[in-house]
Amino acid sequence: MAKKEIRLHAVVAPTETVIVSAYDPSGKADACTLAFYMVSSHVPPCVTIAINATQRRKTLQDILETGAFVLGFPSTDQVRQADYLGVESGYKTDKLKNVGFTTSRARTVCAPVINELLLSLECQVVHTVTVGSHMQITGEVKNILADEDIVDEKGRILLDRLRPVLYNEEQVEYLSLGRKVSDAFKPGAAWKKELDGGKEHG
Ligand SMILES: Cc1cc2nc3c(=O)[nH]c(=O)nc-3n(C[C@H](O)[C@H](O)[C@H](O)COP(=O)(O)O)c2cc1C
Repeated sequence: MAKKEIRLHAVVAPTETVIVSAYDPSGKADACTLAFYMVSSHVPPCVTIAINATQRRKTLQDILETGAFVLGFPSTDQVRQADYLGVESGYKTDKLKNVGFTTSRARTVCAPVINELLLSLECQVVHTVTVGSHMQITGEVKNILADEDIVDEKGRILLDRLRPVLYNEEQVEYLSLGRKVSDAFKPGAAWKKELDGGKEHG
């Protein structure tokens, strides 16, 4: 198949849209929307976010001062709030109040949980590094607060209930989850077994 070289950019298509919240030194809560988010460790559980350090971002300043943040997951019916939190700055106005979100102090870290979000990860900053325009901040997850309705009896999060918002930077739009295409780790493992078996007997 013919290939072509395209515009140089960090391709993010799609990522989960998250809302990161933190307190400023006066104890006021602010939050901003991020698409640059990844799971960076299983043990201990860590997540890494990347915030543009070349521009004035109140949330970044707040996280660096308190050493903590909460990572919240908006649902598809909260996309308007999430988008607003990503286009306005907490330096100018009380964004959380404007969108009607309320906060409670996280139990394990000095950061605000947004009560209206169905899933929140309370994170303690353990590492920062600047790469290019963005500062990568790794937070160890100290507590996970999930709405009862989105968790099954084994404590697993039900994505169809959470209804996460995906961000497609290529077409600059939000998407919802698609349908299941396969189990994970199974078709590859079965294929591996088949090939290994073939080798052993071949
Ligand atoms: C969908 C979406 C994704 C975004 N992702 C990021 C991101 O990953 N990193 C970043 O630095 N800014 C990102 N932004 C921009 C910030 O949310 C925005 O600059 C915000 O106004 C910062 O607010 P603050 O000054 O209150 O911290 C995103 C915005 C939107 C709408």
